[in-house]
Amino acid sequence: MTRLSVLGANAKLADRMAAVPGHDVKSITADAVEVEGAAEVLDRVLGHDDGRADLVVLGDELALDFALNVAQTIDRTMPGTGLVLVAHPDTDVALRAMRAGVREIIEPSVGDDELAAVLYRASQTVAPAAAAEASAAMAHDGHVIVVGSPKGGVGKSTIATNLAVSLAQQRPMDVVLVDLDAQFGDVATLLDLEPSNSVSDAIDSIAASDSVLLKTFLTPHSSGLLILAGAPSPADGDRIRADDARDLIRLLSTLFPVVVVDTAAGMAGATLGALEAADELVLVTTMEVTSLRAVAKEIEVLDQLGLAKSSRHLVLNLTGRKSGLSTRDVEASVGMSVSTTLLQTEEALLAANQGQPLVLHKKPGPMAKALIALAGRLIPVGAAPTSGRRKQARLKKTRGGGRA
Ligand SMILES: Nc1ncnc2c1ncn2[C@@H]1O[C@H](COP(=O)(O)OP(=O)(O)O)[C@@H](O)[C@H]1O
Ligand SMILES: [Mg+2]
Repeated sequence: MTRLSVLGANAKLADRMAAVPGHDVKSITADAVEVEGAAEVLDRVLGHDDGRADLVVLGDELALDFALNVAQTIDRTMPGTGLVLVAHPDTDVALRAMRAGVREIIEPSVGDDELAAVLYRASQTVAPAAAAEASAAMAHDGHVIVVGSPKGGVGKSTIATNLAVSLAQQRPMDVVLVDLDAQFGDVATLLDLEPSNSVSDAIDSIAASDSVLLKTFLTPHSSGLLILAGAPSPADGDRIRADDARDLIRLLSTLFPVVVVDTAAGMAGATLGALEAADELVLVTTMEVTSLRAVAKEIEVLDQLGLAKSSRHLVLNLTGRKSGLSTRDVEASVGMSVSTTLLQTEEALLAANQGQPLVLHKKPGPMAKALIALAGRLIPVGAAPTSGRRKQARLKKTRGGGRA
């Protein structure tokens, strides 16, 4: 939780900030600020009940000079506090704001996604000490759920996205969805997000073992989910080696209780790294014989490599069409039982095209309900994240010590 003080923002904007997940918001109106005077207000702002604010927003209803004065005072007396100014930005304002210690400027009409992104960025970058403290306090032996399949177009991204959103609704800002599909990474599109950073930036930051920087590459979604978007081009994606992908996921799992990974078809490159890091593997297939054979083959290889042995879940997607096969046939040919069956539905396509995941629909249909239930079986609601020591130790070992 980031402690956020909003000072003199218009009521609508203050309400919208209060709705951004992961923030504990205290709001003071511009009138109250004027009546109390700057010094008293500062005492209140910086004296959040449980300590000072991590982040202060200077609202659009404060006079600019006053807002910048307050910014400067906070910057001097409480360095490390994130400062965000709400103003119509022009070069002059931007320059004066930067001099006063402001790191982010947003317009009063900023969209919800951008608002969440700015608050998230400001809380991560501007207060490295506080952010590092928060990271340490949050160190978990996070649970890694990898969604994979030997085939493309079987619903991996759809399933990964819906599972992650469903889990994030239970635990806002505690769930990260990583898009590791180098060729067809489309998690951001499925969530209608336009991320500025991707998994490629993140790989560079793990090389520098910089977990604070890594967090700034995540893009928040209005559901409370954080995403690490796919590589900007297939060439960038192909450069991600299995080891890098594995280390990235393990590092994320020490920072967040739940990491969901969407992968490319097959078992090569980054996907192999994801499989190595998996605590739970969700294998997706359709009712087609070619897909079933490929899944059986993948399971054979996973067994040989000793990967995700005790925790595989088979999802049968795009069912309902005539296939001449029953669920029993599927189970016999793959050698494991089906944990979830998803019908082919028009809703899925519509949801994808609108960037609105099925599980967020006001009246969830059968597919959304099945995915919410699967999410609940993977990580039961209310399951407490455990300590990160075990995983941290493992990470140090795999990275040759000291780099975690
Ligand atoms: N149960 C379903 N019913 C209808 N369409 C679906 C279903 N699951 C996935 N789709 C659609 O199938 C296409 C491929 O799904 P996607 O999740 O991108 O697969 P993958 O990631 O395995 O390539 C997308 O257009 C998606 O909307
Ligand atoms: Mg995909």
